Amino acid sequence: MKGPLTNKRIVLGVTGSIACYKALELASKLVQNGALVDTIMTKSSQEFLTPLAFKSLTHRDVVTNMYDINSQFAINHVGLAESADIIVIAPATANTIAKISNGMSDDSLTTTVLAAKCPIVIAPAMDGNMFDNPATQNNIATLISRGIFISGPEYGRLASGLIGNGRMTSPKNLVNIVTTTLGSNGDLSGKKILISAGGTAEPIDPVRFITNKSSGKMGYSLATAARDRGATVTLVSASNMLETPIGMQTKKVKTSSEMYDVISKEIIEMDAIIMAAAVSDWTPEKYSSSKYKKNGTENWSIDLIKTTDIIANISKPNLIKIGFAAESDNLIENGKSKIQSKSLDLIVANDILDKNNGFESDTNKVSIIHPNGDVEAIPTMPKYEIANEILDRMIPLFNKK
Ligand SMILES: Cc1cc2nc3c(=O)[nH]c(=O)nc-3n(C[C@H](O)[C@H](O)[C@H](O)COP(=O)(O)O)c2cc1C
Repeated sequence: MKGPLTNKRIVLGVTGSIACYKALELASKLVQNGALVDTIMTKSSQEFLTPLAFKSLTHRDVVTNMYDINSQFAINHVGLAESADIIVIAPATANTIAKISNGMSDDSLTTTVLAAKCPIVIAPAMDGNMFDNPATQNNIATLISRGIFISGPEYGRLASGLIGNGRMTSPKNLVNIVTTTLGSNGDLSGKKILISAGGTAEPIDPVRFITNKSSGKMGYSLATAARDRGATVTLVSASNMLETPIGMQTKKVKTSSEMYDVISKEIIEMDAIIMAAAVSDWTPEKYSSSKYKKNGTENWSIDLIKTTDIIANISKPNLIKIGFAAESDNLIENGKSKIQSKSLDLIVANDILDKNNGFESDTNKVSIIHPNGDVEAIPTMPKYEIANEILDRMIPLFNKK
């Protein structure tokens, strides 16, 4: 799958912290996401791990010594700085942070950083007292003032056995941070986009509710794809199953009316809304604060009333509105009528009877319907890629408004 890290050139700096075993996982994840990872290990880090471990994972030479005559680095000692899309130092010791903050360049890593023009992400890892020391704090403040992104450290159990502020950010979060940082100048930068996700739950009594099969995966994929292209994303989520993504504001809701209230407030700031949530069309007329009992009855019915159609009721000058239509019959016809009745700029229709796609699945197959009636069939692909197909069609709309 082509993702935001595909073919990106990432320099991974590894320094002499016990946390450097986590850098192996980070290298592996970056490579799995399609990045070309060049590792630079400080001398101290080689006391903990061997270059072979990184070479095995990245399939690329590892820089270990600035003066190694056999290394590419010796021939062009700033070559990696020039070719890198981003530099990530994880883990970063107090020592390397101090050196970078003071503009030193006495090894391959600090030389690369000093020569670099690309974004730099640093994930400190150290004993809590080392981190809290004013010397380290001053150094970190200097790096932040120069535009270097400092991730963490996190609070928790440290290698010493003590609890403190010194754990390296997890490799998984670092992958997200790298992706977000690389995407910050993307084609959606400067745009504020609200994306809704998940299936709402309409309570009947304290234990029962009406919901639907939406997992939220499509909305979350849209939110991360928009984030990765530089948008400022607000995710309004009715899903409890998915991990809260980093790099965006997430507002959790349960019912359709909560979702409507949150979106009505947030929309004031937005340039676009993508309504991927499956919002219940109906809600129980009355909520019972005590659980309904069987009481020997064979049949039971509850009265339902219509909920507010959120996307149809949201309006603001120049707002781009993209809706979703989950249909079991007459997919295109129903989609076309919704685009008119809800004054949408695009509608994404998916066939909920397709067993391999749609609800709960990691893939989707959709039709994108335009206001002039044009229909584009997007074949089955991962939801993140479907998200990018939708965003590709949204971008030209900003110029038309
Ligand atoms: C077992 C062990 C673990 C260490 N862990 C850390 C650490 O987590 N963070 C840190 O800043 N220094 C740590 N150090 C100290 C560094 O290795 C030392 O400051 C070294 O000079 C760092 O060099 P570098 O920044 O060039 O990699 C550790 C040292 C040892 C012996």
